[in-house]
Amino acid sequence: MSQSRNVGVLVGSLRKESYTRKIARGLIALAPPTLSLSFIEIGELPLYNPDLDTESPPKPWTEFRQRVRETDALLFCTPEHNRGMPAAMKNAIDVGSRPRGQNVWNGKPAGVISVTPGSFGAMASHHQLRQALAAVGVPAMPLPEVFIAHVESVLGPDGAVTNEKTREILGKYLQALAVWIERFPAAVKAGAGAGAGR
Ligand SMILES: Cc1cc2nc3c(=O)[nH]c(=O)nc-3n(C[C@H](O)[C@H](O)[C@H](O)COP(=O)(O)O)c2cc1C
Repeated sequence: MSQSRNVGVLVGSLRKESYTRKIARGLIALAPPTLSLSFIEIGELPLYNPDLDTESPPKPWTEFRQRVRETDALLFCTPEHNRGMPAAMKNAIDVGSRPRGQNVWNGKPAGVISVTPGSFGAMASHHQLRQALAAVGVPAMPLPEVFIAHVESVLGPDGAVTNEKTREILGKYLQALAVWIERFPAAVKAGAGAGAGR
């Protein structure tokens, strides 16, 4: 692999002190030289409404869609809200999937990581997110899986990922993601969703 792949990181929490964002920052810090990770923000996206998806859709939608198009791959980091993905994450997926035939997600390889202070690793959210990604044509890496439970226990006082085992798991996850991304050369070469028929 000769160049670094551009990976957009989406965080399902809008909270300033979000644990999920802290884990995402940890991932950015741990990324191998073959991956260049950067945030794609979803907090300012108006709720998806087809009536607004005209020839001049809301600017935050067009900017967001362009950001996703420019990536080679994606990394979704999500908490869990009431046993599902947060509404902001689902809204982002909906916004990117339309208008029909211009789905920016299509064919982009991705990783999914779920995070919670609770005990179950936000597994319901994780799998609901994978289900939505399948619907928009995103090949999400099936294994390894990462579900982070009791997240406060792996972070230091400044929010950095300090737990050595967690750092090792995240580092290995990123290495596996780098290999997964290379399995989709068309997506990487295009650097833009080819546009799905959905
Ligand atoms: C509306 C709401 C619903 C929640 N439901 C769940 C849940 O189903 N499962 C879970 O593990 N945590 C749940 N939580 C707790 C979150 O895991 C916790 O607030 C966590 O800090 C959210 O992630 P963040 O720190 O990245 O914002 C919920 C929190 C909120 C605000």
